[in-house]
Amino acid sequence: MRVFVTGTAGFIGFHLARHLLELGHRVDGFDGLTPYYDVTLKEARHAELRQFERFRAHIAMLEDMEALTRAVETAEPEVIVHLAAQAGVRYSLENPRAYIDANLVGGFNILEVARAQGVRHLLMASTSSVYGGNEHMPFLESERADFPLTLYAATKKANEAMAHSYAHLWRIPTTIFRFFTVYGPWGRPDMALFKFVDAIEKEKPIDIYNHGKMQRDFTYVGDLVDAIQRLVDLPPEIGADDSVSPVAPFRIVNIGRGEPVGLLDFVEAIERKLGRRAIRNYLEMQKGDVPSTFADCSLLERLTGYRPHTSVEEGVAAFVDWYRGYYGSARG
Ligand SMILES: NC(=O)c1ccc[n+]([C@@H]2O[C@H](COP(=O)([O-])OP(=O)(O)OC[C@H]3O[C@@H](n4cnc5c(N)ncnc54)[C@H](O)[C@@H]3O)[C@@H](O)[C@H]2O)c1
Repeated sequence: MRVFVTGTAGFIGFHLARHLLELGHRVDGFDGLTPYYDVTLKEARHAELRQFERFRAHIAMLEDMEALTRAVETAEPEVIVHLAAQAGVRYSLENPRAYIDANLVGGFNILEVARAQGVRHLLMASTSSVYGGNEHMPFLESERADFPLTLYAATKKANEAMAHSYAHLWRIPTTIFRFFTVYGPWGRPDMALFKFVDAIEKEKPIDIYNHGKMQRDFTYVGDLVDAIQRLVDLPPEIGADDSVSPVAPFRIVNIGRGEPVGLLDFVEAIERKLGRRAIRNYLEMQKGDVPSTFADCSLLERLTGYRPHTSVEEGVAAFVDWYRGYYGSARG
């Protein structure tokens, strides 16, 4: 299969591309190597992927419609998996425009190239953040998600709505993933696990928001890409009982572990693996943050027979082993 994956220099796109390449598929990766975090980490991920002959990288921005069109025309994909985005809840308070450019303009350009290419399945990343102010847990795909708390969440919710209109108008079978706090090797330097391990290794304090009274449905990246790969083969159909839409081949699927873990339990798992105690800096809740996320994963399981299963203990250990191997000598 020929798959076009955006965000392949990013955390999740890298893992998905590698998984697909290992299964024998051909992957064209598209990434603008944005400076949101350490670009050398992004380049190192692409260097890993370049070891596969069936991988080809296109370095350009999603907003550059000409470059995006050229890349897709060269790749001739049957499937597009769109993972490139301006991610991060907190950064959307600092630099909201980056989300408009990458997620709204970029997301629209992806819909246009998917339409022109006539792909058999378009899959796009959304986020548990779209559940925003919802209080009923676990979060279910068919429940309203109309109360975004950040512009990041609002752009992702807009992406879902834009994709639905294209799925309806142009009959593009479309799957939206709502990811829940993904973590693992090659992870993002702006996310908690990376920051915690980095600080504890350097004997610096870690910031613990809402005094630790937070929980997240941490999802191991290996499980996540396994779930995505299974969904690639299951394009939605109009009117199917697993669709959220009566008028389009359009589906929304939570990908989480379905088992929220307390922030302090997460920190303790890291401490056990590192064999070192964290210096804890307790802080108030951050603007736009939510105290808890919890995925209902029954739709994913019904569709694929698969359920993310890696425990936080195992996932944290895999991250720390990678972190020490990757940064070991450089950071001492
Ligand atoms: N990691 C998580 O916990 C999580 C949770 C929910 C949703 N998501 C979503 O999953 C997707 C992948 O996230 P990730 O964690 O791998 O993030 P990431 O930042 O590591 O990867 C995103 C990649 O997209 C590229 N990119 C960003 N803007 C671009 C643009 N305008 N043009 C071209 N390339 C651009 C970046 O260079 C980066 O390599 C995103 O859509 C994100 O919103 C992630």
